[in-house]
Amino acid sequence: MKTVLVVQGASRIDEVPRLAELEAKAEIRLATTVDELRAALPGADALLGWNFRADNLRQAWSAADRLRWIHWGGAGVDAAMFAELVGSDVVLTNARGIFDRPMAEWVLGVILCFAKRIPETLASQARSSWDYRTSEKLLGKRALVVGVGSIGRAIGRLLQAAGMEVEGVGRHARDGGEDFSRIHAIDELHARLPRADYVILITPLTEQTRNLFGAAEFDAMAAHARFINVGRGALVVEEDLLAALHEGRIAGAALDVFVEEPLAADSPFWKAPNCIVSPHMSGDYAEYEADMAAQFMANWESFEAGKPFANPVDKQLGFVPAAD
Ligand code: OXD
Repeated sequence: MKTVLVVQGASRIDEVPRLAELEAKAEIRLATTVDELRAALPGADALLGWNFRADNLRQAWSAADRLRWIHWGGAGVDAAMFAELVGSDVVLTNARGIFDRPMAEWVLGVILCFAKRIPETLASQARSSWDYRTSEKLLGKRALVVGVGSIGRAIGRLLQAAGMEVEGVGRHARDGGEDFSRIHAIDELHARLPRADYVILITPLTEQTRNLFGAAEFDAMAAHARFINVGRGALVVEEDLLAALHEGRIAGAALDVFVEEPLAADSPFWKAPNCIVSPHMSGDYAEYEADMAAQFMANWESFEAGKPFANPVDKQLGFVPAAD
């Protein structure tokens, strides 16, 4: 009997690079809607969540009668963290690692945009206006990275390489290794915020981190500091962030993620002062789907051989815990 693989979030085999390679040994069932998932899940051994945003698995879960493994095609598994899956013995793995360096590059890029005043420069050019002004030096500026998983660490490394002083904030205090000068415990967050020129949010979305940044955190930041969110929109109380931007309590924000995505055309974020808005793309480089598929295929081989998986998510925590 062939192994049955459900691919959630794809309507054609060729939407997922290399998936066709499995056709000889697996029965592949594609599903995008809840009804399709309900029809596909009975008898399925494995599921590939190709659309990391889709939250329809919960609704179809009762049809999963034989599932042993889910691979989530994303770094953040929040959409898969429903009680029935968390409480089951189905193994969950994710795309940890794929987005580390691209997201670090993105964060460095938006920091350079702020420091070198690129948005104002483009606006002046659009007006054919020679607006001479000075910019800011990056060397020695302080960054605070909230979230010290593999993406946070890649951000720390790259910002340090650019000459910034970088501290991390994680679940517990520890040495920062090569990536941070120091990792502080989350209960130190308020004490560290006033020192930072840039605050970068890249923690997984869990019940502990939902609304982590609200009025009190923006008030604790320096008025000249900028806030960068590449984690999840729901880590932030969005009205409080908008108020902080409009009232000049922080100097700017670069936001790649929002509570509602896509961002509505009438969202106040589009026109908020000193705000760079991007459409949840900070990790998505041209070949990322091919790399994600290769990572899935490697785990598929482990699945078939009964070997340990790469990137097993701790379902109680809601992420792949770091070794340290
Ligand atoms: C992810 C993302 O979680 O792109 O992979 O946000």
